[in-house]
Amino acid sequence: MANPIEKILSHYESRDKSSLIAILQTVQKQEGYLSPEAVDSISKHLRISKSQVFSIATFYRSFSFTPKGKCCISVCLGTACHVRGAAIIVEELERLLGIKAGGTTPDFKYSLETVNCLGACALGPIVVVDGKYHGQMNIGKTKTLLEKIQGELKPENS
Ligand code: FES
Repeated sequence: MANPIEKILSHYESRDKSSLIAILQTVQKQEGYLSPEAVDSISKHLRISKSQVFSIATFYRSFSFTPKGKCCISVCLGTACHVRGAAIIVEELERLLGIKAGGTTPDFKYSLETVNCLGACALGPIVVVDGKYHGQMNIGKTKTLLEKIQGELKPENS
């Protein structure tokens, strides 16, 4: 039986370099990150070097080479969000989650990252949870949001 990466690659024509980003997006979405094995398989499938795969994947912030948490929390640190206290929100999330921005909790439940301007400055400061924007955040709203997420991620019998 084909491994998950081979299964993904089977949907894309071999040697078709134009499908690189689509393949990377699919692997990132399904596997949660780009493993060395995935990069190797992609480079072989498209007949391009691994360094070409890496250079594209490192260009876009949405790709990760380490496993991410089930829930991905991003805080915008663009200028408009920053001047409205985004850095304090990052610090609070780091404290509550016990990780630094860019990190993932040891149980792989949460990843915390900072991002550049999301293009919705009027809503700042913005916290994005699994692609959903939460605007005009402050410390209190951040705590409430995290408690809500933690409640949703809790196993049923705990
Ligand atoms: S600075 Fe945060 S959305 Fe623009």
